[in-house]
Amino acid sequence: MISSKLPDVGTTIFTVMSQLATDTGAINLSQGFPSFDPPQELLERINHHLNSGANQYAPMAGIPLLRTAIAEKTRRLQGRTVDSDHEVTVCCGATEGLFCAIQAVVRAGDEVIVFDPAYDSYEPAIALAGGITRHIPLSIDDDGFEFSVDWQQLADSINDKTRLIIVNFPHNPTGAIFEAADLDRLADIVRDTDCYLLSDEVYEHIVFDNAPHRSLLSNDELWERMMVVSSFGKTFHATGWKIGYCIAPKYLSEEFRKIHQFATFSINTPMQFAIADFLMSDPGFYEQLPAFYQEKRDYFCGLLNESRFGLRPAHSTFFQILNYSEISSEVDLELAQQWTREKGIASIPLSVFCEEPFTGTRLRFCFAKDNATLEAAAEKLCAL
Ligand SMILES: Cc1ncc(COP(=O)(O)O)c(C=O)c1O
Repeated sequence: MISSKLPDVGTTIFTVMSQLATDTGAINLSQGFPSFDPPQELLERINHHLNSGANQYAPMAGIPLLRTAIAEKTRRLQGRTVDSDHEVTVCCGATEGLFCAIQAVVRAGDEVIVFDPAYDSYEPAIALAGGITRHIPLSIDDDGFEFSVDWQQLADSINDKTRLIIVNFPHNPTGAIFEAADLDRLADIVRDTDCYLLSDEVYEHIVFDNAPHRSLLSNDELWERMMVVSSFGKTFHATGWKIGYCIAPKYLSEEFRKIHQFATFSINTPMQFAIADFLMSDPGFYEQLPAFYQEKRDYFCGLLNESRFGLRPAHSTFFQILNYSEISSEVDLELAQQWTREKGIASIPLSVFCEEPFTGTRLRFCFAKDNATLEAAAEKLCAL
């Protein structure tokens, strides 16, 4: 019998629920992927580069054109000038970026703080680095809808072993976002510590109600200790492409690249050229994403007006949390599976992202779907 390096890790909930949805023919609002295609112009650029010889290894850190386009976007949106040669690395989706960032700084016995519900790739990556994950639950307000960081609890949790703090705002699955004061509070707390920060910002372009995305990149004081990871999968309706990037100061990017060059070495070449072209020629595409997804959110929530679910429209991401306390007292994991099998609608239970199942009777539904799918899903949900 092999002694597993990750004895507690099973198949991710996304695979489990998507498979169950496929097996049972249920409407799949579980895993977060759009039901619509990437922009046509971007697809045409890929075709162009596929047929123009861009088919061999790309440079390890990413093609210069794409790194420059990412740096330009960062300057434009976050006001931060980054050195595209030394501070931007293209990676295989955010998942690889998060993995390399964690391996780059976490040593055996180090502690890493995550906020629950926490995306499920963090803890296994921390364990493989020999680190120990410390979970801090996000606080929920009295109405039960607003999630936020308990900064005092973070301050109280940091000790000599704390090496890294992972934040994820816009937050999957709750849709919580950072306010300007949150960045200041974070800066106050880490000021006299040796902690690094890893910010998972894959939903950076999907924030609603005219709220800005408060990237860690916008904070000067935090810059020296941060690695910021994002993904083009969410931005271009192309989760299957697995292209993302990591922005970090030079000394951290150097360590990041040492891991990246042996994890994947380099990333799909024609996709990199195509994304670079598209970012340069149409920077407006990601600017219309908030309006695009806000319309989806409002449509989906509107369809649920007559349902027995409790909800408050998400502040960000393409996920809506629904509270089913009026319908059932079943544990969320059981209920999500039961509703997939028996009611034909698949969702993601929140408790699997938490050390303590503090999140209670809540399920996550992905609204990055065409309206017909949302209507069919809502019909089932309203019947519950
Ligand atoms: C919070 C969060 N981080 C990371 C990822 C992974 O992104 P990618 O598909 O680019 O690896 C996802 C994907 O759903 C996510 O929701």
